[in-house]
Amino acid sequence: MTNPHIGVISRVILKILGGYTYLCRALAAPPAKASDRKEQGMKTTMYTQMSIDGKIALVSKASGGLFSIMRPEQLRYVHDCRGRVDAIMVGGRTVELANPTLTNHNDLSKSPLRVVVTASLDIPESAHLLTDGFPCVFATIGKSRENAGVIERAGKTVLYCGEDALDFALLFQILEERYAVRSIMLEGGGSLNWSLVSQGFVDELEIMILPVIFGGRDTPSLVDGEGFSSMDLVPMFSLYALEDQGNMLLLKYRAIPKQ
Ligand SMILES: NC(=O)c1ccc[n+]([C@@H]2O[C@H](COP(=O)([O-])OP(=O)(O)OC[C@H]3O[C@@H](n4cnc5c(N)ncnc54)[C@H](OP(=O)(O)O)[C@@H]3O)[C@@H](O)[C@H]2O)c1
Repeated sequence: MTNPHIGVISRVILKILGGYTYLCRALAAPPAKASDRKEQGMKTTMYTQMSIDGKIALVSKASGGLFSIMRPEQLRYVHDCRGRVDAIMVGGRTVELANPTLTNHNDLSKSPLRVVVTASLDIPESAHLLTDGFPCVFATIGKSRENAGVIERAGKTVLYCGEDALDFALLFQILEERYAVRSIMLEGGGSLNWSLVSQGFVDELEIMILPVIFGGRDTPSLVDGEGFSSMDLVPMFSLYALEDQGNMLLLKYRAIPKQ
């Protein structure tokens, strides 16, 4: 007679072996280059609402007010965009300062996978992304492993993508293989946008220009970071759509591949 426990035990062993195989593959495979990623069909689009002077928040770092001056149909558009992508990505400081939900408010059942990029894993315990029931993954580096407790206790996932520096190519590979992510909405802020623009990972831009000026030397802008020091390095984009939304402009750009 067959022991009924054998089936269960073999399924557990297969699951462990499957996880081990995945880990080996992830560690052994050379990280995909930005150009490989594009050939595989992964698309990253940077979405933003910014002031006429290119700022994405006030000097106090608050950005919630931007949504308050948008029309209902523009807010609907932003949430519809969330419903069309597989994942939405923000930086750790946006979570700390803006405490976003990043869900699709038009249809919560069509919300994208939320991905937070954080070197420190220093995420407030009260953040919506930790307390609500929607899936959220936190991409980080091995060095921050000891800070993973808050996130794991909240039942969310930590993805390790490099030991000292975050390897975005590996992150994209994991998102695609483990979560079937093929399209990403990059929602800032300026530091994360720089990380991705400077490494050639931004394929398209959708920029909504609101009729306000924020000013301020230290106000977050669309892309911050170190900045490019030479024109040879500057990425170029081609404008493929321009929509007049009555006192607001929606600009859509595509990256021009480097020769
Ligand atoms: N208007 C809009 O559309 C919009 C959208 C989003 C945000 N915002 C505003 O933008 C401001 C925040 O922007 P920000 O530039 O200060 O911060 P941010 O880009 O949101 O987050 C920066 C953080 O992301 C992580 N990060 C970024 N690049 C990384 C890399 N290469 N490797 C590892 N981790 C990396 C680090 O997280 P840790 O610090 O956790 O290590 C870093 O400190 C806020 O005021 C927010 O309200 C506006």
